[in-house]
Amino acid sequence: MRSVVVQEPGNLLIEQRSLPVPAANELRVKVAYAGICGSDVHIYHGHNPFAKYPRVIGHEFFGIIDAVGEGVDASRIGQRVSVDPVVSCGHCYPCSVGRPNVCTELQVIGVHRDGGFSDYVCVPQQNAWQIPASISDQHAAMVEPFTIAANITAQLKPTQQDIALVYGAGPMGLTIIQALKNVFAVKQVIVADRIPERLKMAKENGADWVIDNSHQPLAEVFGKEGVLPTLIIDAACHPSILQEAINLASPAARIGILGFSGEPSTITQQSITSKEISIFSSRLNSHRFPMVIEWMEKGLIQPEKLITHCMPLEEVKQAMEIFANDQKTCCKVLLKLD
Ligand code: NAI
Ligand code: MN
Ligand code: ZN
Repeated sequence: MRSVVVQEPGNLLIEQRSLPVPAANELRVKVAYAGICGSDVHIYHGHNPFAKYPRVIGHEFFGIIDAVGEGVDASRIGQRVSVDPVVSCGHCYPCSVGRPNVCTELQVIGVHRDGGFSDYVCVPQQNAWQIPASISDQHAAMVEPFTIAANITAQLKPTQQDIALVYGAGPMGLTIIQALKNVFAVKQVIVADRIPERLKMAKENGADWVIDNSHQPLAEVFGKEGVLPTLIIDAACHPSILQEAINLASPAARIGILGFSGEPSTITQQSITSKEISIFSSRLNSHRFPMVIEWMEKGLIQPEKLITHCMPLEEVKQAMEIFANDQKTCCKVLLKLD
């Protein structure tokens, strides 16, 4: 079988590997589609602090169960599944409070263990979620990115009263815009980015108002219009954004952050406490696959609005290049495996 392996930072190749055999409580998935994510590019370039090499990358994928290990119901063979990349121990403190995404023994498929850019991959049986017939293969490969939106919104609890501000209209920002607008029906979704093409995509994904904040500082625009966002999500993740978000926020607002930057953010207690701002962070997802599958089944979200490219596995290098460098025309790239 073919596997996309990052041998060490900067060295990515398609390797021929022998078919993996599912261990007890594992099943094997024949992968059909896999999405490229920023973190795959980070592992490729050695910018992911969690990655161990060599690594088969890919944590957003869909396929068909073709073999099962001991203790797995053999009737699952043939099932269409999307795989939750979060592998957790089940008994540590975060696991015991329903937060396996920050398990003390966390293993992310495609980061800490081999992932889905491979013809076949073995995963724990509980990580493979059945996909209803009404959801297409390509859409099923998009469940994972939408779980990021499901997880952060579960923290922030959007309401129909909210004036939401989303920083960043990349793949993450767009899933969040769709969730805020179509699932939670918030009153207004404002999106800031610095790339006009991405702001156009934000509009197509449901944003009510888009602002190019490279030309106009948000403080100026909001000051003039008297806008006080009640819910802010940083899906751009520059360390400077948090303080700006705190300054722009309405009293009693909630702010959600997703970033992994190691650079300090300079923020003051006064700016947070005087408005009693709540700040939440969100990492990956905690059991949000069923929720997103339901969103897709009900037609609440439109994954096709994010998919700009679909390329065969052989072209993975070009696909990663396009994804990393062409932010104007590229959003989500799917790799097709068979
Ligand atoms: P991306 O790089 O495609 O999108 C980021 C967007 O933010 C770009 O369109 C960029 O023009 C815009 N941007 C940059 N600086 C800005 C600023 N100061 N104001 C407004 N817009 C600005 O990245 P993607 O894939 O959408 O991911 C976004 C972030 O989310 C990344 O930092 C990534 O590490 C993080 N992430 C976090 C996850 C989590 O579970 N916590 C999961 C996935 C991604
Ligand atoms: Mn991802
Ligand atoms: Zn745990």
